[in-house]
Amino acid sequence: MTKGGQIEVEVAGVEALALAIASFDLRPVGGGELPPFTAGAHIDLYLPQGLVRSYSLVNPQEERHRYVIAVNRDASSRGGSAWVHDHLQPGQRLVVAPPRNNFPLAEDAAHSLLIAGGIGITPLWSMIQRLEGLGRSWELVYCARTRAHAAFHDQLRACGGSVRFNFDGEPGGALLDLAAVVAAAPDDAHLYCCGPVSMLAAFEQATMGIAPERVHVEYFSAKAPPAKERGYTLVLARSGRTFEVKPGKTIIDTLMAAGVDSPYSCLEGVCGTCETRVIEGLPDHRDLVLSKSERAANRTMMICVSGSLSDRLVLDL
Ligand code: FES
Repeated sequence: MTKGGQIEVEVAGVEALALAIASFDLRPVGGGELPPFTAGAHIDLYLPQGLVRSYSLVNPQEERHRYVIAVNRDASSRGGSAWVHDHLQPGQRLVVAPPRNNFPLAEDAAHSLLIAGGIGITPLWSMIQRLEGLGRSWELVYCARTRAHAAFHDQLRACGGSVRFNFDGEPGGALLDLAAVVAAAPDDAHLYCCGPVSMLAAFEQATMGIAPERVHVEYFSAKAPPAKERGYTLVLARSGRTFEVKPGKTIIDTLMAAGVDSPYSCLEGVCGTCETRVIEGLPDHRDLVLSKSERAANRTMMICVSGSLSDRLVLDL
């Protein structure tokens, strides 16, 4: 491990999984065991030019000798996925952060319905391997443009659960009727969705009448813009320092400009790295990490995208 809990790993293998999707097998430099993770977890990769990108782990959670990620080369990549595909070759070293899980699996559910769109299959594949290991009931609906775009296609077909592929780009293909899939789920099922923002929005709409504890969503990118419409006073309780957060700026912008170090990664409110305890004030939550009840409790906030509805906000920093 390097300082700050970061881990130096080496690429042990690269495997093409589907069109534009490859997996990367990352092993600790010098051997040994890596910090444990649970199905649905992700790691952050520290890339050149200060880029940090989060990728879901796709290997079974019992494995301690490696982290395996699967990365889609995004046509609109801002440098993250393109760099990974172009530079991560066997022998290449890089630094990663220990796993975090914002998308945990309810292992004791009577049945799990998993809905994936594109590269959104990655955390769900990890969950499926876990559910298989536990002997639990599950089904997967996996949407991709064509079969060639579907990672883990053959492994999924060989699994014990029910797998339905929906290839909307193939002749005769159509977009998934997500509302019908949700409506057909058993009353005691837990429902999971990971995919593009449009799919997640449709899923959230379709599951509005279902108890929130049975509905699980993972976003890979921001849904709402960061809260920077208004200015407010920010107080850092530990140091006693005070800042004016100006309209047009986030808390993390303001801290970075003042040279205050605070951990962050995605800067989109999706990874949870910048979660900070709120001591006083009313946060304007814009992240996709906290649940509805966690937002209502206002105990913590993601300072990369969330702001303040009160004129004064005191944080445990
Ligand atoms: Fe990822 Fe704030 S840096 S949630």
